Amino acid sequence: MSTFSAPKGTYDLLPPDSADYLAVREAFSAPLRRSGYGYVETPGFEHTELFSRGVGESTDIVTKEMYTLTTKGGDELALRPEGTASVLRAALQANLHRGALPVKLWYSGSYYRYERPQAGRYRHFSQVGAEALGAEDPALDAELIVLAADAYRSLGLRHVRLLLNSLGDRECRPVYRAALQDFLRGLDLDEDTRRRIELNPLRVLDDKRESVQRQLSGAPMMRDHLCEGCKSYHEQVRELLTAQGVAFEDDPRLVRGLDYYTRTTFEFVHDGLGSQSAVGGGGRYDGLSEMIGGPELPSVGWALGVDRTVLALRAEGVSLELPPATEVFAVPVGEEARRELFTAVTELRRQGVAADFAYGGKGMKNAMKSANRSGARYALVLGDRDLTEGVAQLKNLESGEQRPVPLDRVVTEVCAKLGRT
Ligand code: HAM
Repeated sequence: MSTFSAPKGTYDLLPPDSADYLAVREAFSAPLRRSGYGYVETPGFEHTELFSRGVGESTDIVTKEMYTLTTKGGDELALRPEGTASVLRAALQANLHRGALPVKLWYSGSYYRYERPQAGRYRHFSQVGAEALGAEDPALDAELIVLAADAYRSLGLRHVRLLLNSLGDRECRPVYRAALQDFLRGLDLDEDTRRRIELNPLRVLDDKRESVQRQLSGAPMMRDHLCEGCKSYHEQVRELLTAQGVAFEDDPRLVRGLDYYTRTTFEFVHDGLGSQSAVGGGGRYDGLSEMIGGPELPSVGWALGVDRTVLALRAEGVSLELPPATEVFAVPVGEEARRELFTAVTELRRQGVAADFAYGGKGMKNAMKSANRSGARYALVLGDRDLTEGVAQLKNLESGEQRPVPLDRVVTEVCAKLGRT
């Protein structure tokens, strides 16, 4: 055992489980690539202020959960706790917003939050995200929600629910905020929560404690304070979703943990995950660009959690149909056979066949064990006698059936058997 282990709240992805993570990332990102989203990659850290202004000074993410550092050069940096502020910063910096709108981008990577670790909540986790910048169009909100809902379905998940809300805009939200503050100030709450009323009253609605929830039953709801513009925008998003057959639940209490949201907000939750049930979330953020010093740029996006989605697959007992890691496993006996088969394996790989080789001069028995363990459909065995006869033995590892194939036809025969031309 090594002296070191992964830091608290983190874990390593190792084969064979790591294949599921790759498959989830692929299931999330492939539909985006087919829908006009271009790949963006930003640094793993940014100026701390980007997040404190973007995500919000009063959010848990900024006040408690950021990994910050001062560089030797005196820069204040933070490991990225989320992707939206970074992607918008990158787009603005490169002037993408001066070209055709919306700018549609997708990303995949690691994010860092100093949270209290528990099942499904890690300090290092992985998201696939999408952001559509510079358009105010209910169809764009709907597009993103449909893509996410379909991606979960394509993985075989059946118990992901979509919660939907509108958080209003700069016209109606302040009016609602004031009404909510009035209501909350009259409740019996602790000091911390009282402070939150002044800073970020909407977050109080999200307080999980029973003692707080009990008092919130008569709280004013954003839904009843939406201005005409927001009401009609939200209605259009709902109609578009319904027309695409995407089921959702209206959740007037859904507030999300980041401050930049306006209008459409949504979360995908899975009931098999305990308290960390959100497998993905997002929404519209029409004011974020201005908050980080950019022009007006209404935008919408989401990020889906890869780790929790893998947990959801396990909770539902779904096993993904992954392409075999190895299709053919070569088992040479003796030096000359090694050279021959190594060449065959190289050629098979060049033809796109997943092929592996018994390295390390193992005996036949151990080499066959490796072949079986690899999951390969065929073993290609070459011994001394075969060499003299100019053949290799192609063994079907499922049926056990074995037959000789002329050495110069090995690649062609294997390709044919595997349905490659
Ligand atoms: P978020 O809701 O903070 O949104 O994170 C999105 C997803 O990342 C969550 O639903 C969850 O699955 C996963 N996640 C978050 N924190 C953790 C954690 N500590 N451990 C494991 N998984 C986690 C955002 O990050 C926004 N940037 C989404 C967005 C994009 N909004 C607009 N555009």
